[in-house]
Amino acid sequence: MNAPVDPTHTAAWAKLTEIASAYTPDFRRDFADDPQRAERYSRRAADLFVDLSKDYLNEDILAALLELAEETGVAARRDAMYAGEHINVTEDRAVLHTALRRPATDELTVDGQDVVADVHDILQRVYDLARRVRSGEWTGASGKPIRTVVNIGIGGSDLGPGMAYEALKPYVKDGLECRFISNIDPADAGEKLRGVDPETTLFIIVSKTFTTLETLTNARACRSWLLSGLAERGVETKGAVSKHFVAVSTNLEKVAEFGIDPANAYGFWNWVGGRYSVDSAVGTSLAIAIGPENFADFLGGFRAIDEHFAQAPAAQNVPLLMGLLNVWYANFFGAATHAVLPYSQYLHRFPAYLQQLTMESNGKRVRWDGSDVTTGTGEVFWGEVGTNGQHAFYQLIHQGTQLIPADFIAFATPHHPLVDEDGTDQHELFLGNFFAQTKALAFGKTAEEVRAEGTPETIVTARVFPGNKPTTSIMAPELTPSVLGQLIALYEHITFVQGAVWGIDSYDQWGVELGKQMAKDLGPAISGDTDALAAQDSSTAGLIGYYRANRK
Ligand code: F6P
Repeated sequence: MNAPVDPTHTAAWAKLTEIASAYTPDFRRDFADDPQRAERYSRRAADLFVDLSKDYLNEDILAALLELAEETGVAARRDAMYAGEHINVTEDRAVLHTALRRPATDELTVDGQDVVADVHDILQRVYDLARRVRSGEWTGASGKPIRTVVNIGIGGSDLGPGMAYEALKPYVKDGLECRFISNIDPADAGEKLRGVDPETTLFIIVSKTFTTLETLTNARACRSWLLSGLAERGVETKGAVSKHFVAVSTNLEKVAEFGIDPANAYGFWNWVGGRYSVDSAVGTSLAIAIGPENFADFLGGFRAIDEHFAQAPAAQNVPLLMGLLNVWYANFFGAATHAVLPYSQYLHRFPAYLQQLTMESNGKRVRWDGSDVTTGTGEVFWGEVGTNGQHAFYQLIHQGTQLIPADFIAFATPHHPLVDEDGTDQHELFLGNFFAQTKALAFGKTAEEVRAEGTPETIVTARVFPGNKPTTSIMAPELTPSVLGQLIALYEHITFVQGAVWGIDSYDQWGVELGKQMAKDLGPAISGDTDALAAQDSSTAGLIGYYRANRK
């Protein structure tokens, strides 16, 4: 792997530094000076319409950002990723989530293996399972069809399928529901299993490694719950696990050790990162819920953006431009956070999903050659659906002192068209908020405008909106499986671009290991081993002591 280019030593960085020091954002001026601005800076990628005109962008900035991509070798790294080179250097792995959505007619041999053939082999098995569950052919131990699918997993083995299931609720088969157990807090399983009938429940244990404490603990708890529930109903429990448990993992040996029938195990590969895995067998719960045809459309959406990212010219390339803009805001304007604000209730888990995708990928302090990063990396991604966010934290985005670039996402056609008795179209009211917020953030409200409304002088400043807050608006015709796939792939590639510019390995996650290890090591101290307790620092010992003294 080539040594990373230090972005701060490029000619483009010097240009951007100079531009930034002279740049005072003024969207009122920009839009007045250039009536074509919206058109000039709007782009299309598959079904996505992306308006970058309310970003800190002009022709000089655009040229310098594209030059930065050139000089840091973003396109070459993208090609290396698509080709299956081991760009995840610290784990010595290819990074091939794009192979998960290639058509069966493609060929890609990586490390001596035809990965596209492998992908389609598993996909067909997942589709077969989905068809059998959906048709009622797959039955539980008492012969009843499955009504509830419980996905047990955490991180990428939970957030992707959980988010996508919520996003695609209108496509879920009537009479089927999915639940998602992730937290090791027993309250999670306790609440999710409430009201569920063991006779009609299928558990899917999803774990790339099949060693994750939370998932295996929850899987064991669910197995006991299932067996005792069946026994209480007088159902024969011998062989019941194979009718109520399937597993998804790269570690099929561990799956077998857990007692899952290999016929019920769905593999994937170490070249799929957990946070990039919703379109592998990790999405089995989703495939069951929405059906193989919709799942295939979902994959098609990813593929459309993969192709766009690979083929669109740089100045039209949406993931490239959005990734570069994020670098621009983070490194030249000190933006520490980035808001993602979907105007769709169905996307209520999308910000949480993006948190793992972006922050586990780019929250790094060393580059892929082990040297220190030379720039800030990894903004905090956060967000909430509109309009709920408006009534909670938009105050800070409009009038706070920090710069928070924000992505607004909306759809032209709703799944629930509602017109109230006086003829008001509720979706239009909703979208009115989406249009208004990006407008208000860009153009603000001056003191003169506030005064002109007769506002008492003492509160004029409090009512001024400075404006010039950068936003990107993403619109699509409707939130379909394909469009959801497009949105996910868009953010996957944005994340890639940022990591490539910063010179980091976006595909490892060593930062999660220390706490996991310590949690294991603390077991004896927590359960009362006095020597182990005495070996702790005073804070940890105090906290454990509090727990031991107060647990009922
Ligand atoms: O601890 C972080 C992590 O490794 C994530 O990267 C991953 O998505 C999650 O844990 C779950 O891991 P697994 O799928 O192996 O259970």
